[in-house]
Amino acid sequence: MSDRETWTTRLGFILASVGSAVGLGNIWRFPFQTATNGGAAFLFVYLVAVVVIGLPAILAEFVVGRRAEMSAIGAFDELGHPGWRAVGALGVFAGFWTLSYYSVVGGWVIRYIGQAAMGSYGSNPKVFFGNVSAGPEAVALHALFMLLAVGIVAFGIEGGIERATKVMVPAIVLILVGLVGYGASLAGAGEAYDYFLTPDFGVIVANAPSVIPAAVGQALFSLSLGFAVMITYASYIDGDESLPVDGLSIAVTNTAIGILAGLVVFPLLFTQGVGPDTSGPGAVFIALPTALSDFGAAGRVVGVAFFVVILIAALSSAISLLEVAVSYLVDTHGFERRRTTAVLGVLLFLLGIPSAWDTAWLSWFDSIAVNLLLPVAVLLLVLFVGWVLAPDAVDELRIGSGDSFDDLAPLWLWSLRTVVLLAVLVTVALSVTELTGAPV
Ligand code: TRP
Repeated sequence: MSDRETWTTRLGFILASVGSAVGLGNIWRFPFQTATNGGAAFLFVYLVAVVVIGLPAILAEFVVGRRAEMSAIGAFDELGHPGWRAVGALGVFAGFWTLSYYSVVGGWVIRYIGQAAMGSYGSNPKVFFGNVSAGPEAVALHALFMLLAVGIVAFGIEGGIERATKVMVPAIVLILVGLVGYGASLAGAGEAYDYFLTPDFGVIVANAPSVIPAAVGQALFSLSLGFAVMITYASYIDGDESLPVDGLSIAVTNTAIGILAGLVVFPLLFTQGVGPDTSGPGAVFIALPTALSDFGAAGRVVGVAFFVVILIAALSSAISLLEVAVSYLVDTHGFERRRTTAVLGVLLFLLGIPSAWDTAWLSWFDSIAVNLLLPVAVLLLVLFVGWVLAPDAVDELRIGSGDSFDDLAPLWLWSLRTVVLLAVLVTVALSVTELTGAPV
């Protein structure tokens, strides 16, 4: 394994992981999850879920990846026994599955950058979205997005993913901060901040059975867990840095970017009197254009900036999903990286065609990924790290963390075995009931 690539710097690993975590989930899903689940009170529950569930879980993936120095499937084999390969395989499969439709949404975003530049979203943004989200054009743009992802991953860790995300993540933050400034200048800003940031704890108490799983689900999804991404990225760490410090940096940055996105989205919508209660895959492409189309030249600039941020965020997540499958084939079967990446790109394109042809398929692919594959994969990960790897996991987590961590590492294992396990079990049980049937 000595010729295996590694990140050149610790920051490179952190930024790549942030790039994976920050995606459509932060910029669109997070503000609306917050809104529909009680505003700032949900924010509070979500923050608790990130610290209590998300952080231990991301550390579990990091420990597996760095200890094995192998991509997901080999890692479970190496650290456990061959039967556990199935857990790695589930992660790789789930990542592949997810990327096939994530890329279709990426294609829509490319399209909307052009629309924003022209300042036109048809006479009715909802009808317009219906027309462009499915069909031959959506297939073509899905291909284009996949090509962009392949173009980065083909160059490997250092020359591809690390180099790209070092630019992409700062760009996301800079553009978002600029947009937050614009949002603050709008007439509806006060009302929007109130809606997004003023807690109503009564809502939480009344709806705890739905709010808590929603917060846990959002924390797991937003940190890109379950699809072996963090295992794969951690397998490229060279050295004995403190994984808890890395995990905390990634979680904090990811959450901060979600909050920034809310501070952009809500002032725009409130100022135009567009209700925030739209959901589903089309939300970002209907409600926001409706608001933006009335802002004239400023609306064009803001629209382009906003969709560019979404494109960068989606692309930096897509490359992490692609890397999971590429690294498996390269590590385990010794395939050549560039050709493997290109072939996988073609296969992913084909798998995504139904989603690009009909949004009902896209919703179904999404439902399987988020309601089934994600929670089940995290559950198996927790069982593996909590019981199979247990003492080795604690040793691995202690590396690079100094004496102060001697007490915290066992506490982490204990939390995986209790609170995290319980939360994930409940999430599995509740989300399986949300599964939707295939549209055929
Ligand atoms: N975290 C991404 C987001 O917030 C979405 C996502 C979930 C993801 N799981 C992933 C991205 C795995 C890459 C890999 O949009």
